[in-house]
Amino acid sequence: MDKLLQAEELFVNFYTTKETVRVLTGFSLEVEHGDIVGIVGESGSGKSVAIAAMINLLEKTGRIDRGAVWFEGADVLQMDEETLRNLRCSEVGVIPNNPKGMLHPIVPIGTQLMNRYCSAHPDAKKEEARRHAVEALEMVQIPDPEKRLHVLPSELSGGMAQRVLIAMALINNPKLIVADDATTGLDVTVQSQILDLIEAQVHKTHSSAIMVTHDLGIVAQYCKKVGILCMGRIVEYSDSVEELLQMAAHPYTRTLLAATPGVPREYCDEVNPAKSARHEISAQGCLLQNRCKHCTEICCRTAPPKTEIAPGHWVECHLAGKERES
Ligand SMILES: Nc1ncnc2c1ncn2[C@@H]1O[C@H](COP(=O)(O)OP(=O)(O)O)[C@@H](O)[C@H]1O
Ligand SMILES: [Mg+2]
Repeated sequence: MDKLLQAEELFVNFYTTKETVRVLTGFSLEVEHGDIVGIVGESGSGKSVAIAAMINLLEKTGRIDRGAVWFEGADVLQMDEETLRNLRCSEVGVIPNNPKGMLHPIVPIGTQLMNRYCSAHPDAKKEEARRHAVEALEMVQIPDPEKRLHVLPSELSGGMAQRVLIAMALINNPKLIVADDATTGLDVTVQSQILDLIEAQVHKTHSSAIMVTHDLGIVAQYCKKVGILCMGRIVEYSDSVEELLQMAAHPYTRTLLAATPGVPREYCDEVNPAKSARHEISAQGCLLQNRCKHCTEICCRTAPPKTEIAPGHWVECHLAGKERES
C-alpha cells in the first residue's frame, strides 16, 4: 500500500527583493496510515514552511526548488488546482497556531464551518452542512453547539477559538491531521484537553497525525515516531519516541532535551542558540557547523551522512556512533 504522505528532499527558498532565504534544506518525512508523528524544532527551523510545502501552499515568494511530495501515491506538486483544493479541504486538515488570526473576524463560526464543509461537498444542501457544523462543534466539546453557530470569533476565548479551528480541520474527516504548534499560547490544562481531542480523533477515525511543536514533552506524550527538525531538515529521526529520548545522538536533539523538563536522562547544551531567526546556512558541510560545540574540520567540509544507530533510529552527524568529548 502507498504511504499516506511522503516528502522527499524538499528544498524551499523565499525570494524577496533583497535576499534569498534558504528555509528547507532537504526536508524528508514519511507518514504511514495510523501514525502519529512528531516534528520538533526551535522557532524558525522551518516547521510551518515544511507543512505548507507538503500541501503545496507556500506564500507567493516561496518556491519549492527541488524535491517531491506524494500523498497516497499521488504527486502533490503536479496536482491541478481542483485536486489540490480537495487535498487541502478534505484529505489533510491543518490546525494552525493562531486561531483568531485564521478565522474570519466578522463571519459567524457556523457559516465558516458550513463553507468548509461545502467546499468538499459542493452539492450539499444547507441543512446537511448545518448538521455537520453542529456535529463538528460537538466533536470538539463546545457546549450548546446549535446556539454557538451564530457566535463571532471575537466573542470566543483563545481555547474556544482553537477548538473551532480543530472543528474546521476535522469537519471533512481528513486522512491526515496536522497540528502546527496548535497549543502554543494556551494554558496547560487547555493544551492537554486539545491534544487529547486530536489524539482521540485519530484513533476514532483511523486517521494519522503530524504534531508540530517546539516541545519535546508533547511529543513524548502523544507521538509514536519523531523527527528533529533543524535549519530546514530532519537531522535525527526515530520510529520510537522512547528510543530517541533515551538515546538522543544529535547535539541539537540533546540540546533540545536539556531544555525539556522531565526527560529521562541528563543532557546539556551542545549547540548554541541561533544568532538570528534567519540564520546563515552554510553552503558546504554540516548545517550546524557555526553553532555546534563539537564542530571539527570534517564538519565544515562534508555534510554528515545519515547513520542508522539503532533499528529505525538514524542521525545525521559526524559524531554518530563515536565517543564524544563532554
Ligand atoms: N514569506 C516568507 N518570506 C521570507 N522568509 C520566510 C517567509 N516565511 C517564512 N520565512 C522564514 O522561514 C524560516 C522558517 O519559518 P517557519 O517555518 O515559520 O518557522 P517555524 O519553525 O517557527 O514554524 C524563518 O526563518 C522565516 O523567517
Ligand atoms: Mg510555525
